[in-house]
Amino acid sequence: MIKTPKAIIVIFGATGDLAKRKLFPSIYRLYQSGKISEDFAVVGVARRPWSNEIFRENVKRSIHHFPDDNGGQDIFASHFYYHPFDVTNISSYHELKSLLSTLDDRYNTAGNRIFYLAMAPDFFGTIATNLKSERLTTTEGWIRLIIEKPFGHDYDSAQELNNQLRMAFTEEQIYRIDHYLGKEMVQNIKVIRFANAIFEPLWNSQYIANVQITSSEILGVEDRGRYYESSGTLRDMVQNHMLQMVALLAMDPPIKLTAEEIRSEKIKIFRALKPLSNNEVEQYFVRGQYGPGIINENKVVGYKEENDVDPASNTETFVAGKLMIENFRWTGVPFYIRTGKRMQEKSTEIVIQFKDLPMNLYLGQERKTHPNLLVIHIQPDEGITLHLNAQKTNSSVTSTPIRLSYCNNCADKMNTPEAYEILLYDCMRGDSTNFAHWEEVALSWKFVDVISNVWSNNKATEFPNYESGSMGPKESDVLLEKDDFHWWPTITTRFKGESDNENI
Ligand code: BG6
Repeated sequence: MIKTPKAIIVIFGATGDLAKRKLFPSIYRLYQSGKISEDFAVVGVARRPWSNEIFRENVKRSIHHFPDDNGGQDIFASHFYYHPFDVTNISSYHELKSLLSTLDDRYNTAGNRIFYLAMAPDFFGTIATNLKSERLTTTEGWIRLIIEKPFGHDYDSAQELNNQLRMAFTEEQIYRIDHYLGKEMVQNIKVIRFANAIFEPLWNSQYIANVQITSSEILGVEDRGRYYESSGTLRDMVQNHMLQMVALLAMDPPIKLTAEEIRSEKIKIFRALKPLSNNEVEQYFVRGQYGPGIINENKVVGYKEENDVDPASNTETFVAGKLMIENFRWTGVPFYIRTGKRMQEKSTEIVIQFKDLPMNLYLGQERKTHPNLLVIHIQPDEGITLHLNAQKTNSSVTSTPIRLSYCNNCADKMNTPEAYEILLYDCMRGDSTNFAHWEEVALSWKFVDVISNVWSNNKATEFPNYESGSMGPKESDVLLEKDDFHWWPTITTRFKGESDNENI
């Protein structure tokens, strides 16, 4: 285990939901496992006039569900400091600067600082500029900036934001969070692909028929109606998480496992994405919006009835799309993506469907093929399943599908670190592999902008077009049927109640 260097983490938006739900628990887990030494401090800044004591109580509340050994949580919380802050007022920065130098001395943190922007994006540029102009970024140690999504609203706004950040920070100092890149099984995509001799030779258009990525959620927009109205699923999930998974699945092997080499391979995939013309958008992409329905036996309202949502909203809560990657390896292989809210289950899964054999001697009278599938389960199950065919008992002329499964989190669910824990640890060690580089962000916005422009100009008259608790609108199925494929049901739906070794 590598210990992180000593550092101060400054969290902007420390009274918010992300800090409470994700950041404090992640820092605690790193501390508990010994990855963070005693020499660290966290400074929370936000508008509210809190004291250190109130802040620490809040921190303790967010970690109370973890076991507390001998008052360890009190000691942990004593590393947290709070500073009321007005991001537009220069004197706030001066006060913060002097607090940080006091803490540098107290915790021997040698000027190493992480500035974590965990708040609404409106002030990202202002904060970055002021941190630089007031010399909070001028220290003897290293400086890093972690920035939450959304990184812009489209290419132009993302570029403007990036320009502002780059006035104060170098690209190497900026860590753009995409929390899917912190998920254990998303990181595992590279290992499965590049550490197994049996997959890489087949990983191309000669042997793969299509790739399917589904990330479905049961939750609706909850209290995020206002944000969602300006975002929609395309910006919220596709521009970042879904395209990042596509890049990891499609990229060439990097020459080394460094952040630079891996990102450069991913960027080539973003460059190779077939750009869509306005006329092609409806052919390659499907949008949906949930109506009322039943989830877990409870009635739920449709999107248009949610709080802070326009009753005539045109915002999509579901997207399915077909991406084509125009390079030597992938030309002709569709990468289908599908994601949405208020769907049947919470699940993220990747299915690699291999092509059928040119001649299969074991089809039997039904003449039914069962293609080989490699399924990567991202969440809630973490693991892989390989679907093969084997001899049917008492029959030598037909085969039956069987599956080989590996479950990463079955033995002890607690062992899987949270995405944020992994990403914070990476950032503290200066490893930016699992963060989005500006060029990835820029290219994915350019791809998505064409779709969002067409969608905002052509209102979706048929909304709502899927029932809450379903797998999205029928057009999403038609998208694959046009290519003679279909969505493979996720493992939970497909094998409900079956044990892992049962045949399908
Ligand atoms: C976030 C989106 O980035 O990802 C949310 O803003 C979405 O709308 C969430 O619910 C899904 O993340 P996860 O880890 O629950 O799949």
